[in-house]
Amino acid sequence: MKDSIQQDKQHVWHHLTPHQLFDNTDPLMIVRGERLSVWDCKGNEYLDAVSGGLWTVNVGYGRTEIADAVREQLVTLNYFAQTAGNLPAAEFASKLISKMPGLSRVYYSNSGSEANEKAFKIVRQIAEKKYGGKKYKILYRERDYHGTTIACLSATGQEQRKAQYGPFAPGFIEVPHCCEYRSQWGDVDNYGELAANEIERVILREGPETIGALCLEPITAGGGVIPPPKGYWEKVQALCKKYDILLHIDEVVCGLGRTGKWFGYQHYDIQPDIVTMAKGVASGYAAISCTVTTEAVFNAIKYVDSDPKMDYFRDVSTFGGCTSGPAAALANLQIIENENLLENAQKQGCYLLCQLLALKEKYALIGDIRGKGLFLGIELVENRNSKVPVDESVSAKVAALCMTKGVIIGHTNRSFTQFNNTLCLSPALIITEQEVDSIVSALDFAFSQVSDTLD
Ligand SMILES: Cc1ncc(COP(=O)(O)O)c(C=O)c1O
Repeated sequence: MKDSIQQDKQHVWHHLTPHQLFDNTDPLMIVRGERLSVWDCKGNEYLDAVSGGLWTVNVGYGRTEIADAVREQLVTLNYFAQTAGNLPAAEFASKLISKMPGLSRVYYSNSGSEANEKAFKIVRQIAEKKYGGKKYKILYRERDYHGTTIACLSATGQEQRKAQYGPFAPGFIEVPHCCEYRSQWGDVDNYGELAANEIERVILREGPETIGALCLEPITAGGGVIPPPKGYWEKVQALCKKYDILLHIDEVVCGLGRTGKWFGYQHYDIQPDIVTMAKGVASGYAAISCTVTTEAVFNAIKYVDSDPKMDYFRDVSTFGGCTSGPAAALANLQIIENENLLENAQKQGCYLLCQLLALKEKYALIGDIRGKGLFLGIELVENRNSKVPVDESVSAKVAALCMTKGVIIGHTNRSFTQFNNTLCLSPALIITEQEVDSIVSALDFAFSQVSDTLD
């Protein structure tokens, strides 16, 4: 094992990691997983409250039924480009669409960023074909994240995540965030409506005839776990209809049960035109992402008009043809159904929320708790009245203290100048009440170490 640590230290470039850390310490090497637990190479066990660090392993570790399905598929046919069909891709597309009324086409690729890139290209091509190139702008929201590529970062509302990577792609326009706890208008009854009105203000400023799509996370994830306020989605949907703007929902985090429904947007009465998804689609057992559209969006590109040679979606993703992705996704979806994991996410999500609210009674540094299902965030503040966010080092310290109790939690990091102050919980959907208690007890310990208790 010592060799592996040395090999890692010498040659692996870790994601999102300042490597100075490893001048004096070893990287965490995770070697095994079972249900919600992972073990490091030194034999330490951790309860993983963030599903693989990045909200991915929705059905938990060690699922032999997914591994078996993938193996069987790989020895039958591992790959053929998606210019042709294959059996698991057809079957998964059909199953997926049965969970998404109103949508009908699935385009395969292999990361959340790539799925979003496809969506952006679809919007741009429709702008060309239908609107003489005019409706090319894509609106995105402050605090949302849509991926790591330059186009996805161009559509991301997180200043630190973007810093040093510009210049960015033109045609991506920011609209204000909708975090009620950080209300731009103080305490108001109709915050959701006001936040949506801000989108309309941007649409009118830019000119509706220039805007092709509005791209939003159903619940902002890495930007601080921000569920939309009451009244927001109704207005957003109406704006899209009014100004002929496609609604693109990025379900890369919320998709496949995380919030207690198949998709986050299904909590609200909205009908998206494009939905992208990745992480939970196969719970990390294979790389797969999907860009799902309505038949109307598909047809807007399918029907030949000006130039038959050019008028189709001229996009390809080599690894979108890996059959392991849909094979794993089919087995993953079957587990969610067989084990009633949507219900469990709702039930345990409620239980976790209740326990967290009890911690809020105890610790003044908890400013806000928010989320849905098994996707919850805890925003930490220096002072509840001033709401001054704690420094990123405080959230990092809480996470580190939880680690000492054998629990891995997440926290927003290096995304904003000010708001790297939200802890994130997104355990696997199979979690039990006892495991929720373990997470809460680690948090209780960590908070007791970093703050004064309330009287
Ligand atoms: C909402 C959202 N969209 C897109 C992405 C990008 O996904 P990937 O890292 O698979 O490219 C992420 C990643 O965390 C995400 O949180």
